[in-house]
Amino acid sequence: MKLAIAGKGGVGKTTLAAWLGDYLIRQNKEVWLIDADTAISLGPALGLSLEEVPIPLVNNKKLIQERVGTGVYINLNPEVDDLPQKLAKDVRGMKLLVMGTIAGAGSGCGCAANAMLKALLAYMILRSSQWLIVDLEAGVEHLGRGTITSVDGLIVISEPSIRGLQTASNISRLARDLGLKKQVMVLNRASEDFVPPKDIALPPIVANIPYLKSLEQRQQTSPCVLDLPEREDIDEICIKVLDALKK
Ligand SMILES: Nc1ncnc2c1ncn2[C@@H]1O[C@H](COP(=O)(O)OP(=O)(O)OP(=O)(O)O)[C@@H](O)[C@H]1O
Ligand SMILES: [Mg+2]
Repeated sequence: MKLAIAGKGGVGKTTLAAWLGDYLIRQNKEVWLIDADTAISLGPALGLSLEEVPIPLVNNKKLIQERVGTGVYINLNPEVDDLPQKLAKDVRGMKLLVMGTIAGAGSGCGCAANAMLKALLAYMILRSSQWLIVDLEAGVEHLGRGTITSVDGLIVISEPSIRGLQTASNISRLARDLGLKKQVMVLNRASEDFVPPKDIALPPIVANIPYLKSLEQRQQTSPCVLDLPEREDIDEICIKVLDALKK
């Protein structure tokens, strides 16, 4: 199954991506995680040091030039079949691909970098058969820009704030308009009795992540979000999300 996680900035996308990957790998699944954000945070969230995180594909000028070319004559269908294995970093049995954001593909070789990222993302989503979780950049803009809406399911996450929920709603509508109908909503750090305003259309809420003091304390010394004392509760959240997406 191929999934993408979207939402406003700072609402817990990367944390949930890391938790889902960690849960699935312990179920003996083959798991690929894609960091499609500029912040390069998924690797550290999984426990990698900054030195261990591979350079984002979007910054790999040599490879982009080799496969896509530069200037006017760029190859929009570059060969990418060998790249997942070549570029992936092994983390706790999972494979991490650090792509960087398509929007942030940069000046100068922007078109070539975009072509490269799109081709690899399309390959990963459409042609490979393992579990794939894409941690998207914050906001909605990237959804309109490519293959991401070919995933099997979209997890929209928000905190209990109007801006977060409105962004979630916008993401959901845009994704649905682009054909991505299988969507679930996860609330993060909302109290149990929180009910979103009725006039904000959202995908069905399938899980609520409580505020975790242990995570806040952990983040003061480490970016890793795994191996928390609440792992069983976190696994339950992952199960709820994945079960809802299977329906
Ligand atoms: N339920 C929670 N309890 C405590 N801390 C949390 C919780 N969820 C997320 N956090 C913390 O909030 C911060 C933001 O989370 P995260 O990086 O996952 O958000 P994001 O949506 O990926 O952000 P960005 O838009 O910058 O990529 C992190 O430090 C994370 O550990
Ligand atoms: Mg993030």
